[in-house]
Amino acid sequence: MNRRSFLTRTSTAALAASLTPALSKLSAATATTPAAAGATYPFAVSPLAYDFAALEPHLDAATMKLHHGKHHAAYVTNLNAALKDHPKLHGQTVEQLLRQRETLPAALQPVVRNHGGGHLNHEFFWQIMRPVGTAGAGGQPGEKLAAAITAEFGSFEKFREAFNAASLRVFGSGWSFVIVDHATKKLKITTAPNQDGELYQTDRTCLLACDVWEHAYYLNYQNRRADYLKAWWNVVAWDIVTRRFAA
Ligand SMILES: [Fe+2]
Repeated sequence: MNRRSFLTRTSTAALAASLTPALSKLSAATATTPAAAGATYPFAVSPLAYDFAALEPHLDAATMKLHHGKHHAAYVTNLNAALKDHPKLHGQTVEQLLRQRETLPAALQPVVRNHGGGHLNHEFFWQIMRPVGTAGAGGQPGEKLAAAITAEFGSFEKFREAFNAASLRVFGSGWSFVIVDHATKKLKITTAPNQDGELYQTDRTCLLACDVWEHAYYLNYQNRRADYLKAWWNVVAWDIVTRRFAA
């Protein structure tokens, strides 16, 4: 099993398992988040491993509820509807669909790109956040990841500034990411428009992702994306990100 396959098969289960120390603020009903990695048609939105209000005051409950229950759910509904009459594709994971999307029937290609990409990005986004005050949330990366960040960006603070600046440069809707490039072994900050992204790529490992669509912050922050980004660092689950770096 290569590195990417391993990460794909284990990431969600490992991430869900790693949330268990934070039970004080997690929803008991969702503490055993089902593994989405490896899932095939019909796709489903995984329940959050924390309450909608658990990320307040940084991410408000109303936004989380709409974002998870409406926006993410719509991507899944649309993806499933488009795949319904393509039974030969029902054994494919969303990562596999995204990798081969240019070989799919023409009508499916934009659906897989936008709605499949949206499903994959959001599944990851929910999992690399956790409530403030729980283990790993909003703190610092682990020792080796911290050293890699310092080597690449000068300091943790400069890294966050660079990430925020890149996120602010995303025109319209999109995402910002931190990846490890497998060829160079270096950390890199990237951005993608709409629901494109890094999570299905086989030559890199995605450590971190931030949703900079307005639906991720507009209710609470209106047009102030910079304020949303500043607050978002408080709920980043650094223990999970560090574990992905070490994998
Ligand atoms: Fe989103």
